[in-house]
Amino acid sequence: MDFLELATTRYTTKSYQDKRIEKETIEALKEILRLSPSSINSQPWQFLFVSDEKLKNESLAKLSLMNEQRVKQASHLVIFRVMSPALFEEKRSQYISPSGYAFYQQHMKPQGEAYVASWLAHQVYVALGYFLTACASMGIDSTPMEGILKEEYDKYLPDQGYHTLFAVAIGYRDPEDKNQPTLNPKNRLPLTEVIREL
Ligand SMILES: Cc1cc2nc3c(=O)[nH]c(=O)nc-3n(C[C@H](O)[C@H](O)[C@H](O)COP(=O)(O)O)c2cc1C
Repeated sequence: MDFLELATTRYTTKSYQDKRIEKETIEALKEILRLSPSSINSQPWQFLFVSDEKLKNESLAKLSLMNEQRVKQASHLVIFRVMSPALFEEKRSQYISPSGYAFYQQHMKPQGEAYVASWLAHQVYVALGYFLTACASMGIDSTPMEGILKEEYDKYLPDQGYHTLFAVAIGYRDPEDKNQPTLNPKNRLPLTEVIREL
């Protein structure tokens, strides 16, 4: 399937069937996330793959607002987390190039901690786009979800210094899912409004 076809057919799944994703596929998705690009190769992220039924279906589902049923039905819940600016500073010497770090010191850090935190979070959203498309290419359905109580999620999760930004439910669609593009065509702004050639 070419990329345009993937973009046309992938969609936000609202209802899943009771089918688990194979371990090999999950391992490939982990590696794809690890390879995501980021500004100055900052990689300020952590991705938690949750399949444990008690944690996913009881604790986290209850904290997932309108997404509760999707979290319960999906095969896995993938939680996308960002490093705090302090942890980023502590870890960055392990992998960022000197020129990348110089760019950060000159252009990012002087703008303050809130700016840095936002810039770090942007990097995690890049991984989201990568992940959703990768899932679609592998026949995996997905639901990106900002509609979760992220601070509450963190109370159940390990590793201080990381904060949940959003989560993605993954699995296989209920064949009757009403949100699939064949039943609910994609609604997008016209090309002429969002793209210009100069
Ligand atoms: C960052 C982000 C957060 C989203 N949060 C939710 C959510 O909490 N629940 C939900 O059902 N859909 C969520 N969506 C799905 C969007 O509503 C959906 O992508 C948009 O309506 C376009 O539809 P499509 O993905 O089917 O093409 C989210 C999408 C993104 C990118």
